Amino acid sequence: MADRTSQPSRKSKKRSKNKKTKHLNPVTFTTSNIRKDNNLINKYHALVKIQESVKKARGLTKQEREYKLKDLNSKIDKLGGINAYQKASKLGEKHSGGFNSAKWVVSKLKEHNIRGCGGKLKLLDVGALSCNYTKYKAWIDCTAIDLNPQNSSIIKADFLTLSCRIQYDVVVLSLVINFEGDCRRRGDMLRLCSKIVLKKGILFIVLPLPCVENSRFLNKELFISMTVSLGFTVVSEHCSSKLYFVMLKNNGESIMKEFPRKTLKSGNSYNNFAIIF
Ligand SMILES: C[S@@+](CC[C@H](N)C(=O)[O-])C[C@H]1O[C@@H](n2cnc3c(N)ncnc32)[C@H](O)[C@@H]1O
Repeated sequence: MADRTSQPSRKSKKRSKNKKTKHLNPVTFTTSNIRKDNNLINKYHALVKIQESVKKARGLTKQEREYKLKDLNSKIDKLGGINAYQKASKLGEKHSGGFNSAKWVVSKLKEHNIRGCGGKLKLLDVGALSCNYTKYKAWIDCTAIDLNPQNSSIIKADFLTLSCRIQYDVVVLSLVINFEGDCRRRGDMLRLCSKIVLKKGILFIVLPLPCVENSRFLNKELFISMTVSLGFTVVSEHCSSKLYFVMLKNNGESIMKEFPRKTLKSGNSYNNFAIIF
């Protein structure tokens, strides 16, 4: 493949002669756009969080609960619903210098020399906004799913209802566990991974850093011990300024343990992100 950075196309040579282009971002790229996208994403997450707590709140009559949920739904609709959220996430991805978990996944697969045995690697991309693995189709056979696909190549499916009769060499959950508002369903997602990832297969997880660094109920050690109890071992992990990345291998040896919600840190400055099973 040609190295685009070292060999500028004729068009871009022309452009650099005619105009001194300061940056290559589209004209629509402004900090106020980014701020709007981030606001929308944060508001969406906050409303979903309130929805979950209203669903579980004790002391509400059926009518009160219904009224509150209806009100929250209309606020989410006013924001533009999940479509607007996904568009903002996609744009945010572009604006923030192109965070694309597939790049990390592919580089790790190459680094650890993980290839399909006698064929392509079967990869499940859960919560896919785009078809990020198409350019690796020579060696990766990707199934991309989402609750609300933005593209006809992405299958509409809820990960939590997938049958574990179909297993994958690689499963990717990038910014999906935190999208789920219910801490028990987040635990269900992790537990399902141990069944859907083949033995010796790989699971990639990306979480916002505050989920494991600033939660009163979760930290990296606890998160890792959850995955270890499900039969995984850590192959590699790192943090960026905003995200936590972990690559895990399924050894197929789970010790069924329970992880109820426990306060690890107290104080007002922590968030309530939790995963339980
Ligand atoms: C923040 S976006 C992350 C997109 C992309 N994976 C990334 O890393 O940028 C979260 C996506 O996960 C999807 N999602 C959440 N729960 C899901 C589930 N149970 N099954 C399938 N998709 C799910 C949402 O619809 C949303 O598009």
